[in-house]
Amino acid sequence: MGEPYLIGKGMTGGYGRGADILHDCTVAVEKGEIAVIVGPNGAGKSTAMKAVFGMLNIHTGSVLLDGEDITALTPQDRVAAGMAFVPQTGNVFPSMSVQENLEMGAFLRRDDISVTMEQVFDLFPILRDKRRQNAGELSGGQRQQVAVGRALMTQPKVLMLDEPTAGVSPIVMDELFDRIIEVARTGISILMVEQNARQALNIADKGYVLVQGANRYTDTGAALLANPDVRRSFLGG
Ligand SMILES: Nc1ncnc2c1ncn2[C@@H]1O[C@H](COP(=O)(O)OP(=O)(O)O)[C@@H](O)[C@H]1O
Ligand SMILES: [Mg+2]
Repeated sequence: MGEPYLIGKGMTGGYGRGADILHDCTVAVEKGEIAVIVGPNGAGKSTAMKAVFGMLNIHTGSVLLDGEDITALTPQDRVAAGMAFVPQTGNVFPSMSVQENLEMGAFLRRDDISVTMEQVFDLFPILRDKRRQNAGELSGGQRQQVAVGRALMTQPKVLMLDEPTAGVSPIVMDELFDRIIEVARTGISILMVEQNARQALNIADKGYVLVQGANRYTDTGAALLANPDVRRSFLGG
């Protein structure tokens, strides 16, 4: 078997000249699959995502996309290569309309973006209704839909989401996870960080439990959910 479609492999590094946050950390996702990163607060989940997206200088390890070493690419170049990243915070422009937010997502494209925008509206119908409203006026769950929709406007091969369900109700969370499954079924790989570990692992093909910047458990989502040690330490029993 070859490498996974996207892999951050043996990543070690931190912020600026500070101490290392990641220690030989590996996360990966296969084509059209969902991989979920869980772990306690401060474990380095967001840092691992930033490292995969090229926002962190890792001094050891590499990032490969579709077999190509992209470790040296800037985040912009990774977007051009097919990666989209929705960060944990500040992921929409609040004073711009929903439609303008989606258009911003397509800034690198020179072709007709209207078909993709319709696809985003089909996936998140509420955004079609609210397309002229400022994103800042929407509910938390709707704003997350804008953020995911904006990322999809680049027509990515890989969608990276850092806590897409943060601050939303359980019903909205379920709904968002259903939409994420739908996106994966179109062949887009999903790499996401989640605080709602149990529910996220439930939809995950692959799961990573990170602790102190290192891999603690790696398995299928189902196997992690069934693992008594994982349950006791990370899933509340
Ligand atoms: N911009 C930053 N500069 C320096 N240290 C940071 C920065 N962001 C996060 N850290 C540190 O990195 C560690 C991991 O943080 P983070 O990746 O945000 O954890 P998680 O997403 O798992 O909650 C923490 O100790 C945090 O203080
Ligand atoms: Mg985080």
